[in-house]
Amino acid sequence: MKLIIPWSAQLVQVPNIVKGVGATLWDSAGKPYFDLCSQLMAVNLGHGDIRIAEAIATQVGVLGYVNPAYSTPIRESLAKKLAEIAPPGLDRVLLTTSGADAIENAIKLARLATGRHKIVTKYRSYHGSTAAAMSASGDPRRLSQAAFETPGIVRVEDPYCYRCPWGQTFGQCEYQCVSHLERVIAFEGPQTIAAIILEGESGTSGCIKYPPDYWPRVRAIADRYGIVLISDEVMSGFRCGDWFAVSRHGVVPDMIVMAKGLTSGYVPMGGILAKESLISPQFDSKRVPIGLTYAAHPVGCAAGVVAISLYQDGDLIHRPLAWEPWLTQLLNKRLAPISCVGDIRLTGFLGVIELVIPGTQRPLVEWNSADESWTNRVSSLLWDSGLVPNVRWNYVFFAPPLIATQDELARAIDQLGSVLEVVSKEINDSISEKS
Ligand SMILES: Cc1ncc(COP(=O)(O)O)c(C=O)c1O
Repeated sequence: MKLIIPWSAQLVQVPNIVKGVGATLWDSAGKPYFDLCSQLMAVNLGHGDIRIAEAIATQVGVLGYVNPAYSTPIRESLAKKLAEIAPPGLDRVLLTTSGADAIENAIKLARLATGRHKIVTKYRSYHGSTAAAMSASGDPRRLSQAAFETPGIVRVEDPYCYRCPWGQTFGQCEYQCVSHLERVIAFEGPQTIAAIILEGESGTSGCIKYPPDYWPRVRAIADRYGIVLISDEVMSGFRCGDWFAVSRHGVVPDMIVMAKGLTSGYVPMGGILAKESLISPQFDSKRVPIGLTYAAHPVGCAAGVVAISLYQDGDLIHRPLAWEPWLTQLLNKRLAPISCVGDIRLTGFLGVIELVIPGTQRPLVEWNSADESWTNRVSSLLWDSGLVPNVRWNYVFFAPPLIATQDELARAIDQLGSVLEVVSKEINDSISEKS
C-alpha cells in the first residue's frame, strides 16, 4: 500500500524523518536538521517532550475514548485551562479534530446565529482543506475544486503593504484596505453577511502584517452590521507572543478557531472559543446541530492540558513577544543585505522572508505560478544545509519552536543567510546567461 502524499506530485522522493528532540529532527541516515517551521507551524513546544508523552499515555490507560456528549474529568480540565487563557466573553468551547473542521463548525454556528449565509474572507488566506474551509480560503489550493465551491463566500483584497493593491504607502493611505472591505460589504448587502473570517495573523499566504489599526476597524464594521467576527488562530495561536495573535491588536472577536499549537501537534485537535450568545439561549432546549465522533477526544484533551501548562510555565507563551525585537534585528542584519531578499516580516515566531529578483521588487516566483523551479531549488538547498524548510512560491517561512535557544536561532538564521547568498548568485548567473 502506497501513501498518498498531501499537496504534492506523487512521484517525488520524500524525506524520512525518524526522531525529534527539542528543535532538532533526524533522518534515517542520522543527519540532524533544525526544524525551521515547527513542521507545519504546529510543534511549538518542540519534539520528544516526555511530559506530553506521559500525559497522553496515562490518559490512554485510564480512558482512551468516550462519547463526546459525556462529561469526563480530562474534558473538564481542558475547559478549565482554556478558561484561563480565553479572551473575556468567549465562554463556550467546542473541541474538534483539526483546524479545518473547527472552521467548518465556526461557519455553521455564525450562519445559524445570524440567519445569514455569506462569509467574507481574504484572497490571500488559508482556512483548511475540507469543503467549506477550502472555499473560505483564498489560497489557490482551492482552485482545483472551484467548480464545487461552497456557495456564499465573498473575498476581499489583503492589507498587503509591501505590495499595496491600491499602490499606496502606509502612513499616507487612509486605510483603503478597510474602505474596500466596507464597500464590498455594502455591495453584497450587510444583512446577508453572517461572518468575517480573518487569520489572527496571516500565515501561509505570506505573513502579511496587518496595519496597526486594521483589526480594530474591522471589529467596528462587524459591530455596525451585526456580523460575527471570527479570528482563525489555527496557525497564529500559541506562537505570536500572546495566546491568540488577535489580542496583540487589542480586539476581542466573537469566535476564535484554534488547532496546531493547542496540543503542540502531538495529537490532532482543533477547537472554537465562542461568545455565549452564539449558543445560548437558542440552543438551551433545542439540539445544537454540530458534532463529531472524535470531538473533545480524551487523548487530545490530555495533550492540550499539559501543552497549555507548559506554555504558562516560565511565561513561554510570551517569549515570542519578548524576543521579537532581537529576532527582527538579527534577521534584518543577516538577510536584508542579500540581493534576493525583498521583505522580512515577523510577528512573534511566525514570519516570512520574501524573495525577489535582485534589484527589483518582482517576486522570484509569482503567487500561484505553475513554475516552481526556484521554490524547489531554495527548498532543496535548505534541506542540504540542515534546515527543515517550508517554502511556497517566493516565501521562505520562519516559524521555529518556542523552546529553541537563542544560539540555535542565531545559527539557523546564519545558515539561512548562507543558502540565500547561494540563491542570489544562482539567480544573477541565470539572468546573465539569458541576457
Ligand atoms: C490559518 C489556518 N486555518 C486553518 C488551517 C487548517 O488546519 P488543519 O490542517 O488542521 O485542518 C490551517 C492549516 O495550516 C491554517 O494555517
